[in-house]
Amino acid sequence: MADPQPVTAMDNSDESRQSMEKVLMARCRAFGAPVAIIGAQSAAASLLKIIQQADLPLAGIFEKSPHPAELLGQEVQPLLALGQVASNVVVVVASSASSIELEETLNHIRTLFKGQVFCLEHLLDLPNLFEALKTPLDYKYGTHILDEWARQMNDAPSHWPHMPDGFSVEGKTVLEFGPFEGHFSMMLMSQKPKQVIGLEGRPDNYAKVALLKAYLDWSNYSLRFGDMHLFPSLVPETLDVIFCSGVLYHSEKPWWLLKTCMDKCDTVVLSGHVSSEHSRKPCKFQEVVLDNEMYTFEVFAEGGDNLSGLTQQSLWFKEEELKRFVNLNGFKYEKFREWVNPHGLWVCSLLTRDK
Ligand SMILES: C[S@@+](CC[C@H](N)C(=O)[O-])C[C@H]1O[C@@H](n2cnc3c(N)ncnc32)[C@H](O)[C@@H]1O
Repeated sequence: MADPQPVTAMDNSDESRQSMEKVLMARCRAFGAPVAIIGAQSAAASLLKIIQQADLPLAGIFEKSPHPAELLGQEVQPLLALGQVASNVVVVVASSASSIELEETLNHIRTLFKGQVFCLEHLLDLPNLFEALKTPLDYKYGTHILDEWARQMNDAPSHWPHMPDGFSVEGKTVLEFGPFEGHFSMMLMSQKPKQVIGLEGRPDNYAKVALLKAYLDWSNYSLRFGDMHLFPSLVPETLDVIFCSGVLYHSEKPWWLLKTCMDKCDTVVLSGHVSSEHSRKPCKFQEVVLDNEMYTFEVFAEGGDNLSGLTQQSLWFKEEELKRFVNLNGFKYEKFREWVNPHGLWVCSLLTRDK
């Protein structure tokens, strides 16, 4: 695992650190089972201290390359040894690697161990949310979302610009990335889906969508907090449609996210910015080789506001290369709309698995 730092949650003031530790201790105690720690850097050391202080049973410490070979006097074993661990053990991954690396580690762990696996950050989701939500919510759409969109929802218009004409998610299970203030959640919910799962990575946006869900009494809208790059772990449900609007261009590895969507689902409604002559100048580019094919991505500096991605920069596909990537991965690419806004070209396309 890449050079883990202490989890952010533990960098806060002493008071907040202590309250995080209490939450973590309570969560580990509630497992009622021995805990195995994955990782050997500072986040793992913090977790180990908590387990030792609470006198909870430890099932071992494991790490891809066990270096150093011990953590606070305890032996660190190679990750492969996790295969020998009893299935009632609860595995906690204590790392602050990037979400994509974390998702790959979780995948690897699942090949070795069939029991319960958690990430340290997910055990701390609620206290992190609580901390982050001490500042007031800043709405872009304001109360507009509760009147104008609600009215549109009741009128159930047949035309939504971000959906292909005639396409409906009625009766389907849909994953919606980055719902922001819930405007597209309303669009999806107006079509009477079986279930929509919203995955939002910013606490303030998560809170806004949680309010909307409560206000509109959506029992079949499940809201989850987390990075969309961890969606295979955070959303284990079988999906009929992934609604991926306004987020692919906020990824540092958009090819990874898109390929993972196509691996997990036969239909992806994709919309967002692509690199074009309409992009803001000056443009910076980065070349990436994927499966022996060269791609040129536009480098976009993330602004850090509540519409942004979670990393400092993201990469934008060029449309023709996006189409090539989709086709090379066994999917059809059908563009159904496009327009230019002050940030550049926005393209909406429907991706379906080639039978
Ligand atoms: C540009 S807005 C798009 C909102 C809406 N989906 C749309 O298309 O209008 C990006 C949204 O995705 C969320 N987001 C950005 N990066 C994310 C990530 N890595 N994981 C989860 N949510 C993310 C942001 O917090 C924000 O709500």
